[in-house]
Amino acid sequence: MKGVVLAGGLGTRLFPLTKVTNKHLLPVYDKPMIYYPIQTLINAGITDILIVTGGNHAGDFLRLLGNGKEFGLKHINYTYQEGEGGIAEALGLAEFFAENNKICVVLGDNIIEKNIKKAVENFKKQKEGAKIILKEVPDPNRFGVPILDGEKVIKIEEKPKKPKSPYAVIGIYLYDSTVFDIIKTLKPSDRGELEITDVNNAYIKKGTMTWEILDGWWTDAGTIPSLLQASNLVAKTGANKLE
Ligand code: DAU
Repeated sequence: MKGVVLAGGLGTRLFPLTKVTNKHLLPVYDKPMIYYPIQTLINAGITDILIVTGGNHAGDFLRLLGNGKEFGLKHINYTYQEGEGGIAEALGLAEFFAENNKICVVLGDNIIEKNIKKAVENFKKQKEGAKIILKEVPDPNRFGVPILDGEKVIKIEEKPKKPKSPYAVIGIYLYDSTVFDIIKTLKPSDRGELEITDVNNAYIKKGTMTWEILDGWWTDAGTIPSLLQASNLVAKTGANKLE
């Protein structure tokens, strides 16, 4: 399986912190934010990694990460997203890299306490489709929220005013190679973006979406309060633990 870290976007919710740098280069406790999603992939046994970035500071990723020596990697792949067309648009740029393999996609501002080894192993055995990972949160209205019927996920609603479950769909997604065909059918949402939630709903419609609950804490770091929370959580317990 190959890994993709999505680190494009303008990070407007963190302005002015993101005026002269990319959101994913900001510190989360003692490391640049982008270190955490890269480590998430490596801890799941995924070492063939593409970083999708964009904006005026894309060159800084190369200077920071190089070929990934600090992570024990021999090589990192990079690509560039023009503008901010959404998470699914950024993922579409990974088609050339995926080469019909299954992929694990991690949003560049998502940080986890533990690891996703079990979910990745389970997805390797899944014949087709996709897998999402859920976490119960106090504020699901900030995220993609699944509507569940027992073991089945019926639909995901993006940032619903009245969430129909207490879960967030976290920014770690497992897809088969048909994801790129789905992305080509998407239309921009009201916020003018190609939405990852529309991709996930397409798999749900086909009946090939599975889900798991994440063990340990999860946070995004894309707003001022969540950036602070991410630093505090990492300081308190550490992140990306193997067990
Ligand atoms: O954090 C999990 C949530 O992430 C999910 O629950 C939501 O369903 C999903 O839509 C997403 O919500 P956000 O609105 O918080 O995503 P945001 O726009 O902050 O983008 C998250 C990351 O995706 C960002 O750190 C970099 C990448 N991205 C985003 C955009 C809009 C790109 O690479 N390119 C883009 O154009």
